[in-house]
Amino acid sequence: MWTLVRVALMTSKKAIYPGTFDPITIGHFDIVKRAANIFDHVIIGVAAESTKKTLFSVQERAEIIAEELKNSALQNVSVKLFGGLLIDFAAQESAFTIVRGLRAASDFEYEFQLSYINHKMNNKIETVLLPATENSHYISSTFVKEIVRLGGDISKFVSTDVEERLKKKFKINS
Ligand code: COA
Repeated sequence: MWTLVRVALMTSKKAIYPGTFDPITIGHFDIVKRAANIFDHVIIGVAAESTKKTLFSVQERAEIIAEELKNSALQNVSVKLFGGLLIDFAAQESAFTIVRGLRAASDFEYEFQLSYINHKMNNKIETVLLPATENSHYISSTFVKEIVRLGGDISKFVSTDVEERLKKKFKINS
């Protein structure tokens, strides 16, 4: 029996879906759900070090995602924050597939370079690109933050909980 368990663990397909997630949008969540259908386990990796100046701290970003997961039916998705290189985090988690969403042709060049450089640094790492659905291909966390800051309606782009978090951050009354 233990051998069976060990074999199952060795062959189970884990993937990492990394990002800044400042904050997570319905577009990100769509990728999470689809990745969870493909892989045995999906780890949402929240990057602590980002070239972006973030609104939420890395702990807050991970906490928001944990709440979203709690409210979902997804059983095979977890969230972890990571610092340093993504490939090192992937190796540490024994998850050699990286999932990224592709919203438009303009994303392609960046994603292609990122996947290539990660593979060059560790040739065990492969990247799977999932095309965003037509309902989410135009969403970005930056747009969402800008809209809420200027008093617009973001209910089509983020969950109610994320909307509340954003309003609280910008001190906007609901
Ligand atoms: N739906 C909605 N929005 C989406 C999306 C989707 N399916 N896919 C991407 N986006 C948006 C995000 O909201 C984000 O918008 P923003 O720029 O306005 O914040 C943008 O597209 C891209 O963000 P994200 O997917 O979070 O990726 P990122 O570029 O912020 O993160 C890391 C890139 C974290 C994966 C990368 O920097 C990394 O691996 N960092 C660790 C250090 C490292 O190893 N670097 C690699 C070697 S250089």
